[in-house]
Amino acid sequence: MGEVAVLGSINHDVIVTCDRAPRAGETVHGSAVSFYPGGKGSNQAIAAARFGADVSFFGRVGKDSAGLSLLSNLDDDGVNRRYVRISDSLPTGTALITVDREGNNSIVVVSGANSSMGSSDVAELTDAGCGPNDVLVCQLEIPRETVAEALNAGHELGMTTILNAAPADDVRDLLAVVDVFVVNEREIVPNIGGEFSSRSELTERIAELSAAYQCSTIVTLGAEGCVAALYIDGAISTLDLEVPDVEVVDGTGAGDTFVGVLAACIAAGTDPRESVSLAGIAGSLSTTRKGAQDAMPTRSQVEAFMA
Ligand code: RIB
Repeated sequence: MGEVAVLGSINHDVIVTCDRAPRAGETVHGSAVSFYPGGKGSNQAIAAARFGADVSFFGRVGKDSAGLSLLSNLDDDGVNRRYVRISDSLPTGTALITVDREGNNSIVVVSGANSSMGSSDVAELTDAGCGPNDVLVCQLEIPRETVAEALNAGHELGMTTILNAAPADDVRDLLAVVDVFVVNEREIVPNIGGEFSSRSELTERIAELSAAYQCSTIVTLGAEGCVAALYIDGAISTLDLEVPDVEVVDGTGAGDTFVGVLAACIAAGTDPRESVSLAGIAGSLSTTRKGAQDAMPTRSQVEAFMA
């Protein structure tokens, strides 16, 4: 069984619950403010660990109370944080999140220490002994050149590389060294050259993308499930999955839960279709509670739900 290495962001999340998010120039009343551990990288590491994977997290926090509390949070879920550095000059990353009455979120991220990740963090993948059985997971909340360097290093080391292109960007220049590309319905748009008008058109276009770059592409569609074009043994096979109908409280971190569980399944050698299905169920369950990491299910919770 391989291990999961997540190289990416870690944030202090400030979540404001409100009826609806304010429009530009508008002030609205919120009903509660809460503080949670977050950051797409650290969320994905926690999701993979809760699903039973051995996980190492490579990231940076500031020398402040938020940073210390995020480190102890990684410890609580058994994530190896030996490769997390503490910045002397930059604060811990912060995300300001509004969650509306339907559980939809809007996020503004202030990178802080995440923005200082660079070559020395990537070099730790080799020091950590990462190799062909292991999975590397990256997102886009740290400098893009560091993500590119990490994916190249992971590819060189023979790892299975997963790129979650969030926040959205055109990353086609990186896909040659990506094995599994995961995005949501908005993040896929810059990577397929524009909007799509139906689920079947989206599936066709990601199949073309996957064939061109010889990678699997998965697009999560919130409550509508996901579509995927899986690149297996040199051929593309498409997949269209629904997710359980659940009562959504907060969608924050659902995509991260999907990515983390997918990484855990790949590291464990689970069949690709079953991996996507388990990731979809876990992502869906994570929306039934508030916060990103607090809401992530364990493997046994996912299995109990399926049973
Ligand atoms: O994907 C959700 C995450 O995005 C939040 O935890 C927040 O920190 C931002 O990074």
